[in-house]
Amino acid sequence: MAAVIILLPISATAQSPRGGGGGNITLGSSLVADSSNSTWKSPSGEFAFGFRQVYPGGYLLAIWFDEMPERTIIWSANRNNLAQQGSTIQLSSDGRFELNDPTAGRRIWAASPATSGVAYAAMLDSGDFVLAANSSAVTWRSFDEPTDTLLPSQTLDQGGSIFASFSDTNHSIGRFKLIMQADGNLVMYTINFPNEDHVYAYFATNTVGTGFRLIFNQSGYIYLTARNGTILNTLSSNGAPTSLLHQRLTLDYDGVLRHYVYPKFANATGGRPMAWSVNEFEPSNICLRIASDRGFGACGYNSVCTLGTDQRPNCVCPFAYSPIDPNDRMSGCKQDFVPQSCDRNSSREDADVFSFDDMPNTDWQTSDYASFQSVSEDSCRQDCLSDCFCAVAIYSDNGCYKKKTPLSNGKTDSSIGGKALVKFSRRNDTATDPNPSGRNSRKSSNRSALIRMGSVLLGSSVFLNLILLSFVLFLVFCYRARKSKTAIRAYTAVPAGVVSMRSFGFDELKEATNGFNEEIGSGACSTVYKGTFNEGENVTFVAVKKLTKIAEEADQEFKAEVSSISRTNHKNLVRLLGYCDEGQNRLLVYEYMPNGSLANFLFENPSPPNWYRRVQIAFATARGLCYLHEECTTQIIHCDIKPQNVLLDGSHVAKISDFGLAKLLRADQTRTNTGIRGTRGYVAPEWFRNMPITVKVDVYSYGILLLELLCCRRNFLPDVEDEKVVLADWAYDCYRGGAIRSLAADDEVAADDLKRFERFVMVAIWCVQEDPALRPHMKRVMHMLEGSVQVPAPPDPTSFATPI
Ligand SMILES: *[C@@H]1O[C@H](CO)[C@@H](O)[C@H](O)[C@H]1NC(C)=O
Ligand SMILES: *[C@@H]1O[C@H](CO)[C@@H](O)[C@H](O)[C@H]1NC(C)=O
Ligand SMILES: *[C@@H]1O[C@H](CO)[C@@H](O)[C@H](O)[C@H]1NC(C)=O
Ligand SMILES: *[C@@H]1O[C@H](CO)[C@@H](O)[C@H](O)[C@H]1NC(C)=O
Repeated sequence: MAAVIILLPISATAQSPRGGGGGNITLGSSLVADSSNSTWKSPSGEFAFGFRQVYPGGYLLAIWFDEMPERTIIWSANRNNLAQQGSTIQLSSDGRFELNDPTAGRRIWAASPATSGVAYAAMLDSGDFVLAANSSAVTWRSFDEPTDTLLPSQTLDQGGSIFASFSDTNHSIGRFKLIMQADGNLVMYTINFPNEDHVYAYFATNTVGTGFRLIFNQSGYIYLTARNGTILNTLSSNGAPTSLLHQRLTLDYDGVLRHYVYPKFANATGGRPMAWSVNEFEPSNICLRIASDRGFGACGYNSVCTLGTDQRPNCVCPFAYSPIDPNDRMSGCKQDFVPQSCDRNSSREDADVFSFDDMPNTDWQTSDYASFQSVSEDSCRQDCLSDCFCAVAIYSDNGCYKKKTPLSNGKTDSSIGGKALVKFSRRNDTATDPNPSGRNSRKSSNRSALIRMGSVLLGSSVFLNLILLSFVLFLVFCYRARKSKTAIRAYTAVPAGVVSMRSFGFDELKEATNGFNEEIGSGACSTVYKGTFNEGENVTFVAVKKLTKIAEEADQEFKAEVSSISRTNHKNLVRLLGYCDEGQNRLLVYEYMPNGSLANFLFENPSPPNWYRRVQIAFATARGLCYLHEECTTQIIHCDIKPQNVLLDGSHVAKISDFGLAKLLRADQTRTNTGIRGTRGYVAPEWFRNMPITVKVDVYSYGILLLELLCCRRNFLPDVEDEKVVLADWAYDCYRGGAIRSLAADDEVAADDLKRFERFVMVAIWCVQEDPALRPHMKRVMHMLEGSVQVPAPPDPTSFATPI
């Protein structure tokens, strides 16, 4: 599991530092990177200088805004080279200012050039840290070596530059750079990461020969001046007084230069929580601005950049592609399927397996290798389908543009027009393998070879087929058996059927969660805490679910969860890493999901979240359920599918969680009887009717979830017009009345992609049929969502019709 890097909350109680205290820092003073959190503060207390633990065991020597809970870092000495615990920054008696790691015996950083005649250091109220001989002879200042941020009264002179951070939690040098060039031009570039060379200029003031200095003045104006002080170009003209607002100009990790402000006094926000807000930013749409024929664009190869409603770029993977590094949204996307073979024998039959996902208003500029004019969309599709090199075809203005991977500069914007036809394989070979290693493709090609072999058989005599088929099944069986064997690792022995889990000690989990300190969620009989494990260089964040002592129930939940989820292994299910069963304590340890639950994502956002992201969530949840119902050795009914139980990882990939109510069915069982489970509003009617419980209860809950995902509202809203109170009823009324569009009234993107929206609504109506026999199985739901099978007109959910 890859590490996630998060700022650790550190208690804000700074102690009185040695040699500091708001005044001058005298020669011989020092600070140590440890839990004492000593700092040198500016006289007003606005800024602090000291060590910040930004990573377990990794300290940044930094300057930050000290009066706000975010404690936003504005400068650091060692962004690419974190200091270990015990490292010291010392202003030695001869005036040298150095950051040393005494245990490793190495110097990490020093103020340069070697400064002579230093009499003291000071953290100034401007946010500048200085070494000085006297108040008029400063020999070194942090303002001269900015990292990614400029402050009021700071300037960027010719030759000066700032580099974006790698991510919002990793301060090391990232992928973008702003430079005040010696030729007078102020330019933002993508860089040849991890090398710092320029690749593509996506913003420039075009002031070659005239530009001299970028100024961020005390009234919050940001502008470029000529040598004689004439203003040539204004970046932020929306002046903001420093007396009322904290301010900064930061080149963010997404490549956008933003002027942020933060109220200094609580009453300025009228009681609303205080936070950084963006005053102005450049460029206005970085997705559209970057169009280089080299490099990864704004979002990484194969991914698509869209400007969200918050005006920030979002990186999304196309359907059937997934992020290379789920914790780095700009790492690009990989194909989740085996690409089309160019082998002449297989390409014909492969073509049947490949299909397109339509993405309106989307293009990957600069990835063309062929194009045709005056063709129909159908012939464009056919052409790409039968061409093994074609990964995507753009159909626009009767032109067909074929693209190859890796796709560069992907973007979706209403100004683009046309549509992208993204080719993918309908064979879901690799979806069950959460292991992102290279073994992936070998395995799936093994399997597709088997499948292909199977399909060659259709055509010879029935008897021969039967024999060969059983042989193929036998191969598949052996293959699976081998796979599950290799998955058992050298962990503590756990119940039969349970793979690669660990048993944790209670104290170990207590330490990992810092004494169950940071609560990230809670349920009826449990609370979930965030935890951290350090194993050498590797840091793993986990979610630790602690079941409360309502003994009996909690114990059942614990057993249900361990025995069901531990049998699963799928990228759309949250992974259980281990558990603790010690005395009275029952705890479960999961992978950590930084983006919280789908419920928060859908219902707590002020505006509807990105449509394509919602589409991916619909697919991912369906895939996870499909796996539980059809691909596990023991069929699993989740019994509590709802947006609260679908979690989003660092790249908003949806994963089903909370198996506390799950039911396992034996191989010979297709139904079970049990007391009512699940959550009101999402539970299928058969729960109340004393009917047997089958996998169809999950299909029902999925249908409700899908509607909520489509309409960005809860199924039940008491305060709206009568006909809209229950979403499932309203949706059917709209469908019957030919007014599906009104379900998406507030959602422009869904309106752009109306065909898919309509298809999804119809699928959802099939899922919420009251008669369980009418509801399709999840596999069919998947196919209907993909559009690989037609969606028949759904009947009234309360009626009885012919099952599909
Ligand atoms: C810091 O030291 C300088 C030079 O000795 C002196 O001029 C200045 O007043 C001192 N400032 C404070 C806040 O002590
Ligand atoms: C400050 O220090 C510089 C260099 O050491 C010296 O030239 C200058 O005279 C000093 N000024 C004051 C006011 O002490
Ligand atoms: C931050 O990102 C860089 C670049 O990918 C990486 O080398 C480094 O290990 C990351 N830092 C941490 C603390 O994870
Ligand atoms: C900052 O710049 C603006 C625009 O040029 C100007 O009106 C304002 O007076 C300046 N403020 C300061 C403190 O120099």
